[in-house]
Amino acid sequence: MLRFFAPLIAPLVGLLFVCALLWAVFMAPSAPAVHLASEEYHLPPRGIHYSFEGPLGKYDDRQLQRGFQVYKEVCSACHSMRLVAFRDLEEIGFSKPEVKAIAKNWQVETPSINPDTGEPATRKSLPSDFIPPVYANETAARAANNNALPPDMSLLAKAREGGPAYIASLVTGYEDVPPALKKEFPDFTVPPGLHFNPYFANLNIAMPPPLVSDGQVTYSDGTPATKAQMATDVSAFLMWAAEPKLENRHRTGLAVLAYLVIATLLAFGAYRSVWHGKKH
Ligand code: HEC
Repeated sequence: MLRFFAPLIAPLVGLLFVCALLWAVFMAPSAPAVHLASEEYHLPPRGIHYSFEGPLGKYDDRQLQRGFQVYKEVCSACHSMRLVAFRDLEEIGFSKPEVKAIAKNWQVETPSINPDTGEPATRKSLPSDFIPPVYANETAARAANNNALPPDMSLLAKAREGGPAYIASLVTGYEDVPPALKKEFPDFTVPPGLHFNPYFANLNIAMPPPLVSDGQVTYSDGTPATKAQMATDVSAFLMWAAEPKLENRHRTGLAVLAYLVIATLLAFGAYRSVWHGKKH
């Protein structure tokens, strides 16, 4: 009897494994598909054209100056730029006296104490100062912003996927919750103090719409200050702040390419003259 079954044991065990495997593949309950509003209704940044794109791209100083104006008049109420010194603004075409005048608009704390109030004494900023923080500390910043923290803007354009186009899309992207979303996700709510914005990863952002109307700032170069224009300008300025040496990098890249082309031609010429008339 055993002699009859013995040769069948190995194939039977094998068959059992194959069946178990097939069962596991086809019959196992599949994980329930997680279906999230933030996956389906989150939009990628709009395609916005900037002068600094591409290997020959350059910053447009007039645009950067307009962008700084938007930062100063709108965003700087909540967002700091700790890594930018006022004198850095000379790089985008502001003159020394202009930079001095800009710096004076900001107060900076000094180590001494105001003898009347006991608070730290302040003085007007100088071109060598960095743009002073908006809030004394994170707790104060959160307390003023519905418990959310307005991030420092010095490196923001490099810290977010989509860069400047993301920032421009975000600040002009506020809208009502689309009816299709409400229908598909009846539980979706915009909590009090938050605002619906499809460009923000979880769709609800604590920042109130910062750009509310065309003409919110008045540009001295006569450019119409539409919401889209202000958003593009301020995001270009933030890109410069995060990567001021972009043009140098582009220039170095081109110089290296030119060098490689010339070196290749020379090498080829040398090869031709060395082997000229020789048969292998
Ligand atoms: C009233 C205060 C306030 C003003 C003014 C303001 N912001 Fe904000 N901002 C916030 C707060 C608060 C957050 C954090 C939001 C959150 O985490 O939900 C934020 C976040 C952001 C973010 C980051 C979003 C992310 O991906 O984390 C960007 C970009 C931004 N703001 C751009 C701007 C620009 C550009 C301006 C000026 C045009 C501006 N903000 C003006 C309060 C403000």
